[in-house]
Amino acid sequence: MPTPQAELESWSYGITPESDLRAMAAENHIAEVAVDDHGRVVAFCSLRDDEVKALYVHPEAAGMGLGRQLMQRAEDLIVSCGHRQVRVEASASALTFYEGLGYVVEESGDFPSRGGLMLRAHELTKPLLRRDPSGA
Ligand SMILES: CC(C)(COP(=O)(O)OP(=O)(O)OC[C@H]1O[C@@H](n2cnc3c(N)ncnc32)[C@H](O)[C@@H]1OP(=O)(O)O)[C@@H](O)C(=O)NCCC(=O)NCCS
Repeated sequence: MPTPQAELESWSYGITPESDLRAMAAENHIAEVAVDDHGRVVAFCSLRDDEVKALYVHPEAAGMGLGRQLMQRAEDLIVSCGHRQVRVEASASALTFYEGLGYVVEESGDFPSRGGLMLRAHELTKPLLRRDPSGA
């Protein structure tokens, strides 16, 4: 099984920040970023309709709760648009992260990635409940 780093490199092979931004704009993704005290982007999450399309936390900022917070904000936005569930596609290395947030695997399969490795991908969903604005 490839290491998480090898998976990430094969999945993102050939992608540049510029090409990724162009693709996100062309597909009307909504993106949120987290910045550090120096204004550097350390994490981002993008979504379209009821699907989280990308979530990435810089390794130096990992384990500080940013992934969870960005997912919570994405879920809040998706539910506020009237959707009743959120969908996300996860690599093998991120599967446990999403399961810990309440996501359930619907389907799994292997696909050839841009960098040549066959990668396992999991389609997950989580039902969403509209939060009572009163907090009750
Ligand atoms: C996976 C990723 C988004 C997690 O972000 P993060 O900010 O480090 O995660 P958080 O600090 O918010 O952690 C939330 C919980 O998930 C757990 N967790 C974090 N990364 C995990 C992982 N890779 N596998 C299993 N659990 C993980 C944490 O221990 C924490 O659990 P706790 O609440 O019980 O303490 C981040 O490591 C990342 O960007 N990885 C590379 C790209 C990637 O895999 N993106 C996902 C798209 S498929």
